Amino acid sequence: MPLMAGLMQRFAVQRPFEGLAIAACLHITAETAMMVRLLRAGGAAVSLAASNPLSTQDDIAAALAARYGTAVFARAGVDRRGYYRHIEQALAKGPDLVIDDGGDLVNTLHTRSTALLPGVRGGCESTTTGVIRLRRMAAEGALAFPVIAANDTAAKRLVEGTCGTGQSAIDGILRATNTLLAGKTVVVAGFGASGRGVAERVRGLGAQVIVTEVDPVRALDASLRGFRVLPMTDAAPLGEVFVTATGNRDVIAAEHMSQMRDGAILANAGHFDVEIDVRALENLATAVYQDVRPHVDAYDLGDGRTVLLLAEGRVVNLVAAEGHPPEVMDLAFGIEALALAWLAGNTDKLEVGVHDVPADIDAEAARLVLAAAGTSIDALTAAQQAYLESWRIGSLASGRGHGLFADALGRDLEGRACGRGRPGQRQPRDQPDRVHEVAPPGGRGQREHGGEPDGQAPRGGPRIARRPDDEPHHEGDSGRGQQADRGPVTGHPGVGQQVPGQRAGRRGLVLGQPEREQHGVLQERVRVGQRLGSEQDG
Ligand code: NAI
Repeated sequence: MPLMAGLMQRFAVQRPFEGLAIAACLHITAETAMMVRLLRAGGAAVSLAASNPLSTQDDIAAALAARYGTAVFARAGVDRRGYYRHIEQALAKGPDLVIDDGGDLVNTLHTRSTALLPGVRGGCESTTTGVIRLRRMAAEGALAFPVIAANDTAAKRLVEGTCGTGQSAIDGILRATNTLLAGKTVVVAGFGASGRGVAERVRGLGAQVIVTEVDPVRALDASLRGFRVLPMTDAAPLGEVFVTATGNRDVIAAEHMSQMRDGAILANAGHFDVEIDVRALENLATAVYQDVRPHVDAYDLGDGRTVLLLAEGRVVNLVAAEGHPPEVMDLAFGIEALALAWLAGNTDKLEVGVHDVPADIDAEAARLVLAAAGTSIDALTAAQQAYLESWRIGSLASGRGHGLFADALGRDLEGRACGRGRPGQRQPRDQPDRVHEVAPPGGRGQREHGGEPDGQAPRGGPRIARRPDDEPHHEGDSGRGQQADRGPVTGHPGVGQQVPGQRAGRRGLVLGQPEREQHGVLQERVRVGQRLGSEQDG
C-alpha cells in the first residue's frame, strides 16, 4: 500500500490529528488496520467498530487492540444488538472526528448518542449508501456537522467501485460456489460504478450478461456497451447468477425469486443486506439448508427448484472473500485520510452539510498512486494550459484556427508574446507564425502577413488569424468574410450545444453546462497535478 505508506511518513511529521479523537466504523480488515495506523501516525486516538458483523476479521481486530493501541469494539458474527452496542462503545469517549462506512455510526450519533453531537467537528463517509443517507439527513436539516463524501471522487469510484467491487464480488461468488461463469447468464442489478465493474468483468469471463436498471441514462449506457437490458421480471427466469449492486431495497423480490431457475445463485454486492428480499425467500422456501458450502444457504422452493443465497444476502465480496485488494483500499483510504486531514484543519470554515472532497486531493492521490507504480503522464504545455483557460478559442482544425488561438491569447504557440499583427505589419523574425486576416464583409480573400509576401500562400506552419475587433471565432465567419458577432464563443463543433438566447443565424457552439463543469474539473485536476508535480520535482 504505497500511498498509505507515503502518507504515514507525511502524517508523522505534520500530525494533522494531534490531540483529536477519531471514532471509525469500518469493515475490519487488514487494509483498515493500515488506515487506523495512518490516523494514529497523524496524532489521533482511534476507536473502531465494525461496519458489518460478517466482514469482521477477529485476528485483525485483536492485533489492532493489542499492538496498535486502538480501542476496538467488534467481533465476527455478532447479532444486530451487539453490532449497534459496539458502535455506541466506539463513540462513548466523545469523538472530535468520525469516519463511517454506510452511515450507521453517524445515524447512531444522531439518534441514540445525541449528547455527544456538540463535540463532533466533522466526519467522512466511505460508501455510496452512506452518502445517500447523509444527503437525506442534510436535506431534512437533521445533520449536525460537516461531512466529506469521501466516496464521491472520480478516482475512488473508478478504482473502488468499478475495479474493486467488479473483481472482488466475483471473487466472493467463485469462492463460495466454485461455479463456472463462462456461458452462464449473469444478471447484474444496477449499472453504477460497482454494477458496471461486475458486469464488465463477468463478461470478460465469458458470461452472458443482463443488466437491470431504473435510471434510463445508466440503462442506455449499459445497452450501448453491449449488455442486454431488461426489467428484473424478465431477467429473473433467464438468470443463473444474480448480483445486486444498487444501494436499494427489494431489487430481487418474491415475484422474481418465484420465477427463477433451479440452482439460481443470488449474491449482493451492495452495502446493506436489503437488496435481496431474504425474508421473502424464507417465506417461499419449504426448507432451508444452511452452509451447504461456506457462505452458501440452499433454499428449497418445494417444487424441485433450489435457490442458493450467498453470504446471507450481505455484501458478498467482504463476507465470502476478502473485500477489495490492498491496491484498491490504498487509494480509497489514502483519499479518505487526506480528506480527513484537510477537514481537521477546516472544520471551523465548513458549513454543516455534505461536502465534496477537494479536487486537488483526488488528483494528488491518483498522482501518488501512478508514481508509485512507476507510471508518468504528460504535462500541459503553457499554450495548452492557456488554451484550456480561455473562452475565446474556437476550432483548431485549420491553420487559421491555430491563428485564432494564438491571437486570442496574444502569444504564439510556443507561448511567446506575438502582439496583434496589424495589416501590413511584419511579425518579428523569431516568430515563424504568419498572420492572415479575415477578409472584409463580402470578400472571400485573405491577406497574408509575416514571413510571406502579401498575397502569397503560406508554406505550412501555424498561422495567426486576425478578425475584425479581435472577435472570437464562430462558424458564421469562417473564411466567408462575414463580420463576426459579439457574443458566445464557438466551442468545438460537435462538442458543444446551442445555447438559449443565441441570436438567430448564429451558428457558434458553446459548451453546455455539464460539459463546462467537466471541462472545469478536468482543468482543475490537471492544474493540481502539475503543481504537485513541480512541487515534488522541486
Ligand atoms: P451508484 O449509485 O453509482 O449505482 C447504483 C445504480 O443502481 C444506479 O445506477 C441506480 O439507478 C441503480 N438502481 C437503483 N435502484 C435500482 C433497482 N431497483 N433496480 C435496478 N437498478 C437500480 O452506486 P454504486 O457506487 O455503484 O454502489 C452501489 C452499492 O454498492 C451501494 O450500496 C454502495 O454502498 C455499494 N458499494 C459496495 C462496495 C463493495 O465493496 N461491495 C464498494 C462500493 C460500493
